Amino acid sequence: MPSTVLVGTQWGDEGKGKITDLIASHYDYVVRYQGGNNAGHTVVHGDTKLALHLMPSGVMYENATPVIGNGVVVDPGALVKEMAMLQAEGVSCDNLKISCNAHLIMPYHKDLDGADEKVLGKNSIGTTKRGIGPCYQDKAARKGIRVQDLMDEKIFRLKLEAALAQKNPILDKIYGLHTYTVEEICDEYLPYARILAPFMAETTQLLNEAKRAGKNILFEGAQATMLDIDHGTYPYVTSSSCSSGGAPIGTGVGAMAIGKVIGIMKAYTTRVGGGPFPTEQRFPENGGVGEEAETGEALCAIGHEYGVTTGRKRRCGWLDLVIGKYAVDVNGLTDIALTKLDVLSEFDTIKVCVAYEHEGKRYDYCPMQQSVLFHAKPIYEELPGWKGVDISECRTFEELPENAQRYIEYVEEFVGAPITMISVAPERDATIYRNWSFEY
Ligand code: IMP
Repeated sequence: MPSTVLVGTQWGDEGKGKITDLIASHYDYVVRYQGGNNAGHTVVHGDTKLALHLMPSGVMYENATPVIGNGVVVDPGALVKEMAMLQAEGVSCDNLKISCNAHLIMPYHKDLDGADEKVLGKNSIGTTKRGIGPCYQDKAARKGIRVQDLMDEKIFRLKLEAALAQKNPILDKIYGLHTYTVEEICDEYLPYARILAPFMAETTQLLNEAKRAGKNILFEGAQATMLDIDHGTYPYVTSSSCSSGGAPIGTGVGAMAIGKVIGIMKAYTTRVGGGPFPTEQRFPENGGVGEEAETGEALCAIGHEYGVTTGRKRRCGWLDLVIGKYAVDVNGLTDIALTKLDVLSEFDTIKVCVAYEHEGKRYDYCPMQQSVLFHAKPIYEELPGWKGVDISECRTFEELPENAQRYIEYVEEFVGAPITMISVAPERDATIYRNWSFEY
């Protein structure tokens, strides 16, 4: 049975939570392969809304085993807290498996994340300050401390001592921050080790054996294509491989195991943090005036665009199809799930970006140079809207207003991948399936 990857096609917050929720119960394993507790999505549990940050959403389904793969960075304190929250809500975490090769986020990673951002000033990335970047830095520098190191106190102390010999002078001399002792960190982390030990596993072997036994695996991407360390808007990205290529790397399951790649595409665009965003409709506080500011504010308000992890107001703009096409290529998308289409029901006409213009040159593809994307002016196509028609009750493509159907067809034709799911309201059943199949 080929596996499925679910990825964001924009800058995150495309509504992965709802789509994961719709399909996860069909899978035996739901696996996170990158990122850490910088992610955030809301899942509905009975009458309660729960925010997941690090836990794979498979935890919500009894039949699914949630797995934290080797490519994830784990803040053990955050994980223990999330598990306690879930257990208090009656969600069992007993099946959780954590890769022994995943790297640990240490207290100094969080300090350095905040300090680096401060130094960057107005060029700051707008990170979540969860220590993600500094932890991946140590991983790439081969100086990281891994989940497996928690299993042996002696090794943990040795590695920590070596790490602090380098980190303390940086914290103290460069940033004037608090330094750490081995004892101080051991006092915090060793109790986590005792709690997490039963969940630590050889997840590469586990997943490959599951494949051999014909089990279904869902790789659950966090963040999104344009935040990918290689393919995103570097340096305004996160520090991991969020696109579908990250799944084999971050889990140890070979690339040929993947048969379906579903890209989640919001019907408009949002971005949290700094960096280029050609179709942004700036808020008044960011310099937007007139129609631009009105559109930005309307998308934010109607779409409830506030961060789950940080509560920050997200930057909003029209759908960028140049980026959509790029995401189809980078991820090898077989399907697109178009989300929040209902948010567009408030507009007379709807703009989609079909190319960029910079210094007299037209770009039909993502420009090679970051500076070009930063200053690129979007070239829009304006499509007729379906203003005032409530589409939230539509359950088939044919029930949608004609202009909504044309919009969908325009998007899929432009980007070159079929839109097989359309979300028309937050509720689970407010979804249109269109030639959708779990078969490949
Ligand atoms: P970091 O991942 O905390 O290092 O932040 C790097 C960039 O990725 C910042 O612009 C964050 O706002 C963005 N980012 C990280 N996680 C998410 C997410 O789950 N949704 C949207 N943006 C994110």
